[in-house]
Amino acid sequence: MGEVYEKLQRCCESVRQKTDFVPKVALVLGSGLGDFAETIRVVCEISYGEIGEFPVSTVPGHAGKFIFGYVGDVPVACMKGRVHYYEGYPISDVVLPVRLLKLMGARILFLTNAAGGVNTSFQAGDLMMIKDHIAVFAPNPLVGPNMDELGPRFPDMSHVYDLTLQKLIRSTARENHIFLQEGIYTQLTGPSYESPAEIRMLRLLGCDAVGMSTVAEAIAANHMGMKICGISCISNLAAGMTANPLSHQEVQEAADMAAPAFKKLVTETVKKMEGIL
Ligand code: HPA
Repeated sequence: MGEVYEKLQRCCESVRQKTDFVPKVALVLGSGLGDFAETIRVVCEISYGEIGEFPVSTVPGHAGKFIFGYVGDVPVACMKGRVHYYEGYPISDVVLPVRLLKLMGARILFLTNAAGGVNTSFQAGDLMMIKDHIAVFAPNPLVGPNMDELGPRFPDMSHVYDLTLQKLIRSTARENHIFLQEGIYTQLTGPSYESPAEIRMLRLLGCDAVGMSTVAEAIAANHMGMKICGISCISNLAAGMTANPLSHQEVQEAADMAAPAFKKLVTETVKKMEGIL
């Protein structure tokens, strides 16, 4: 057995010593969804720091813990905070939490993030459902010996973002009068924001939103056969699209402003997932 798999097993055992909760939906809460936990009937919380060897984020606003509980009748595991590749972790550590939640029982992965808008018709504060992604600018988490226990060597990537879940998000947005953009998300490594020339390049490639997370997690989850969906909160227009320089504080403030609609959309969508689990 490889090192990465053994570490995953040890982390899984460590969590299992603290809870026997079986989630069906795993949620990764990005910037702006930090207080999503308020909508959960919490059963148990585990700080990442309590799990031996678990990667712990260093980014302000990303302090990490698992929150296990119920949204409506749906058992969920929330990741409040994630680690990013730019913090210096190996990409296998970045995707470890998502793999762990799959091993605990989660079948659906709901990814969220704050992202820069690349599409010129987007505005700061928009929500964008992720329909597909561009992964080629960030390291692939499946590089290395394949973990046959988790999935195949060469996974198909034709439908990473599940079409049924996309329909569910779309109809939930409509019912709740929440304006929803749709598009392609690209992950870059960060931590520097992009240059205006890079944003023009990404637009030419068909990218609608850019960020520093999410795609690696989607690849690892797809490898394990999870059903995946994702929503980006467009916290700013990307570099060169406005006169303003980008700052982490601005990104967080804009994500916080969009938070009520974001929270509503995620909560109401998760409640309806019962029907497709
Ligand atoms: N670029 C990259 N990542 C981001 C941005 C951005 O403009 N906004 C929020 N996350």
